[in-house]
Amino acid sequence: MPNDDSVQLYDSLFALLISADQVAARVRELGAMLEQRYGDKQPIFISILSGAFVFAADLIRAFRAPCEVSFVKLSSYEGMQSSGVLQTVLGIDTTLEHRHVIVVEDIVDTGRTLHFFLAHLRAQQPASLCTVTFLRKPTAALFPVEVDFVGFDIPNRFVVGYGLDYNGLGRNLPGIYQLAEKR
Ligand code: IMP
Repeated sequence: MPNDDSVQLYDSLFALLISADQVAARVRELGAMLEQRYGDKQPIFISILSGAFVFAADLIRAFRAPCEVSFVKLSSYEGMQSSGVLQTVLGIDTTLEHRHVIVVEDIVDTGRTLHFFLAHLRAQQPASLCTVTFLRKPTAALFPVEVDFVGFDIPNRFVVGYGLDYNGLGRNLPGIYQLAEKR
């Protein structure tokens, strides 16, 4: 696959945007911030699959206090365009009432995913609810959504790496790469 500066996936070239070292440093900071707020609250992290699994795995290990982890699978993307249809594919297997819930997302693009999912979670009456996303594309925030912790604000370009894919490829890249050109 890549040299460190660029990677080819199918017919598209992606250029390095955030290095693996920058990613690791930021995740440590986010883990420490969450630990300050939730270290004595035994929170439950809910990771949105598939994209957030890499971020969630690193984030919970940067959170050095007791916590639980759960996963939910939603889908709204096909290729590089949002399909607009949100489906819960795999639900949460534990009750969230009176729990401190931290939702872990890979990227907020239109905000549709979080908007939908937070409403679903609020209905379960958690003690508190906060959101952490690794990436955010602010220009594309079409749906009103509060994000409490953001790893990086990035330009409104399609990106891959660190869990994010382009039609299934790129999730294993340790850094973030943005779409450079199409051949
Ligand atoms: P939203 O619902 O429009 O905010 O989109 C959120 C979901 O779309 C994320 O969880 C990703 O799975 C996917 N997504 C949004 N932007 C990108 C991107 O640039 N690359 C890969 N997936 C993306």
